[in-house]
Amino acid sequence: MALITASGVSKEYRTEEVTVHALRELHFEIEPASFVSFVGPSGSGKTTLLNLLGCLDKPTAGTLSVAGTEVAALNRKESAAFRGKHLGFIFQDFNMISVLTVYENIEYPLIMVQNVAPRERRERIARMLAAVGMADQGGKYPHQISGGQKQRVAIARALVTNPALVLADEPTANLDSQTAYAVIGLMKKMRDEMGTTFIFSTHDTKIVGEAEVLFRLVDGRLAEKEVKGGTTHA
Ligand SMILES: Nc1ncnc2c1ncn2[C@@H]1O[C@H](COP(=O)(O)OP(=O)(O)O)[C@@H](O)[C@H]1O
Ligand SMILES: [Mg+2]
Repeated sequence: MALITASGVSKEYRTEEVTVHALRELHFEIEPASFVSFVGPSGSGKTTLLNLLGCLDKPTAGTLSVAGTEVAALNRKESAAFRGKHLGFIFQDFNMISVLTVYENIEYPLIMVQNVAPRERRERIARMLAAVGMADQGGKYPHQISGGQKQRVAIARALVTNPALVLADEPTANLDSQTAYAVIGLMKKMRDEMGTTFIFSTHDTKIVGEAEVLFRLVDGRLAEKEVKGGTTHA
């Protein structure tokens, strides 16, 4: 079964003066353990779509199933519970909590959204720190590490709750291109090891080649789907 099924998904933002058609009747499926990118220029609808997939906003039309749940039907409380159980998030500006250490930043979602006992917490955090190559950096504060290291910590933080799906909105926008490749490569390695589906958005046409499934967004429409080895026009 597909991990994600979008059927006729549209999103409009209405203000008094105008209606913005941010997404127009998207149809797509994403299989478990995929490594997927949505690519498109600024304003093409990437953030809007990731917000829908992340249960942070609702479509104005269509149905969207994530991990077997029709997410448009969830209320606010159910959405929060769903996010905590099934989803991880990685952000363009890292979203580290500056007064917490690297270790504590990774621990945070375990305390907040999943009631994990202290010993199990310590084991999981140590495993994640090692997996992202930050085993000896747990005691540092965010201002003491580089942007690339922050994004490694963010990957560990997103995965420590063992979600089915990690959503990363322009995760490499604030990184130089060499670091960007390394971060995408680490996400792919973690997908290989944990079977977690990763979806990242980008406007950077260089790093999209790393995706195994690539959707091109143009003005809120899915213009094209590329699967490694072939292209189909949507
Ligand atoms: N909260 C909002 N209210 C009104 N318009 C919005 C809002 N968020 C995004 N938009 C508009 O929706 C379109 C898609 O935006 P967005 O999803 O942020 O694209 P991207 O992430 O690809 O840059 C743009 O035209 C943008 O101006
Ligand atoms: Mg955006």
